[in-house]
Amino acid sequence: MTAAVDWLKLRADFPILNQLVHGKPLVYFDNAATAQKPRAVVQALVHYYEHDNANVHRGIHELSNRATQAFELARARTARFINARHAEEIVWTRGTSEAINLVASSWGAKFLRPGDVILLTEAEHHSNIVPWQLLAEKTGAKVAYLPVLGDEGILDLSRVDAMLTSSVKLLSLVHISNALGVVNPVAELCAKARKLGIVTLVDGAQSAGHLPVDVQAIGCDFFAFSGHKICGPTGIGVLYGRQEILEQLPPYQGGGEMILTVDYDKTTFKAAPHRFEAGTPNIAGPIGLHAAMDYLDAIGRDKIWQHDQALAQYAYDQLAGLKDIRLFGPKTGRAGLISFLLKDVHAHDVVTLADQGGIALRGGHHCTQPLMHKLGVESTARASFYFYNTPAEVDHLVAVIREIQKFFAA
Ligand code: ALA
Repeated sequence: MTAAVDWLKLRADFPILNQLVHGKPLVYFDNAATAQKPRAVVQALVHYYEHDNANVHRGIHELSNRATQAFELARARTARFINARHAEEIVWTRGTSEAINLVASSWGAKFLRPGDVILLTEAEHHSNIVPWQLLAEKTGAKVAYLPVLGDEGILDLSRVDAMLTSSVKLLSLVHISNALGVVNPVAELCAKARKLGIVTLVDGAQSAGHLPVDVQAIGCDFFAFSGHKICGPTGIGVLYGRQEILEQLPPYQGGGEMILTVDYDKTTFKAAPHRFEAGTPNIAGPIGLHAAMDYLDAIGRDKIWQHDQALAQYAYDQLAGLKDIRLFGPKTGRAGLISFLLKDVHAHDVVTLADQGGIALRGGHHCTQPLMHKLGVESTARASFYFYNTPAEVDHLVAVIREIQKFFAA
């Protein structure tokens, strides 16, 4: 039997959590937007800048060697984190958005033809819609959407077989919906697509640091995620690409670092992943991300997943007991976030008043405007959790929401 995690003790690793906001203890429930950073990550960044800072892959001097080693070690660590077969399958990007844009620009320009279909779901983040719309405009391909059902927003699996037509060349879908907390059966869907020769991309922005991710078990061709949502620094993200497919792709951007030889009229390129990393990269980012991955795995992502799901279910059950509240996302089996609307109260007012109670929520369309329109709303309020959040904080949220309801009823 594995030891139980002392979740409260872990909070001491996050000095930022220990503060008053508007005179109230901070309750940080905006983790789907960005997660807080443990001391270990901050210290890794400080150590790098104080001891090893140099450019990578260029110098033959000691500091450059150290920086290069740390940078490439982080790539190998990332491969282990998602069970990729090779470190060369990991491309550094600025975040999930850039990772998806890279695939759209490089894979899309090479392989898509007029009339081809890019299949998404109705619950995608703008990052997994807009790059494909831009690509469709350039190539004459079309974008289609697998429907989701009602306020729960669960994918309508009965439509999948009919929509995976011979015109579909790419299935790109979110692993965990940032607006609803739905967990999609990505392995099942990627297996169906693979049988039909359809390339697959999974947007793992909300899943990578929250549950164990195994890209080989999922069976996707591409998997994208962001460092800052999994306790790492901002500005660093990951594109996993299956080696066989990554090797076929042309460069995404041109510049230093990604070339073998350059002549006035011709350039030859490095192999993947370096071919996709033009210019001086974000070096500190992967080093901080490495520390974040070590930190999460020391806790255990299976345990983090159980914690987050239990807390989200607790929040759902508490909020469902209130009057005049509309809850979005699945009734059970949700990831660690919950979207809601109070009758006759704008989501932004909920967030503003919750902030007065020390609670950080997010209100708006959550970069999922098409989904909001499908649900018939402009915005929702959202509480999103991580392993350092507690049931007592959820109780505080529920109490504050009751106060907000009283205030607007008065
Ligand atoms: N995609 C991030 C969110 O859901 C920013 O808040």
